[in-house]
Amino acid sequence: MRPRLILLVVLGAIAGGFAALLFMNSIGSFVSPAGQQNTTGKALIGGPFSLVNHEGKRVTDKDFHGKKMLIYFGFTHCPDICPGSLQVISAALDTLGSAADNVTPVFITVDPERDTPKLLADYVASFHPRLVGLTGNKEEVDTVVKKTFRVYAKKVKDSNQPNSYTMDHASLIYLMDENGKFVHYFGHPTSADKLVEQLRPYL
Ligand code: NI
Repeated sequence: MRPRLILLVVLGAIAGGFAALLFMNSIGSFVSPAGQQNTTGKALIGGPFSLVNHEGKRVTDKDFHGKKMLIYFGFTHCPDICPGSLQVISAALDTLGSAADNVTPVFITVDPERDTPKLLADYVASFHPRLVGLTGNKEEVDTVVKKTFRVYAKKVKDSNQPNSYTMDHASLIYLMDENGKFVHYFGHPTSADKLVEQLRPYL
């Protein structure tokens, strides 16, 4: 693997571990000292969002309720990590077949400046027929990526193209339940078989 890929994979693992810790803390906050469910508790990963899908339609987290969400964060100009990950995710869903019918695969861009709905439409279709692409204006995407899902993403200069930029970002997958609550994270997906094995217990 190239150093940059290794760095991003490590960042993904760290972010994922951090997410797991936050989630465990959030479970704690759900349970009051009396042991009763505290419905006002807020999970630290996930929550309400409003974005635009690859068909140009505004959607919120509620539009995804009723099915699990398998979310990958990336950007369409990504040279290798995102396409590789999305291929693995798509192949894993195909292998799972009907077991994955209750899962909506979602690609949330970390690069809203370039990732228009039109660009996302062609991109997601090239990986999986059910893959949903989400974008929005810079402010709302930044909020969703960095605050709602706490995913590392940063705009950096592209050393190969001085007039352009690339995005450093964590390569990880979140699984959310039918109510949009965080269930589990999976690190950088290395193979479809491995991801199938990791996903199956949660489906
Ligand atoms: Ni990428």
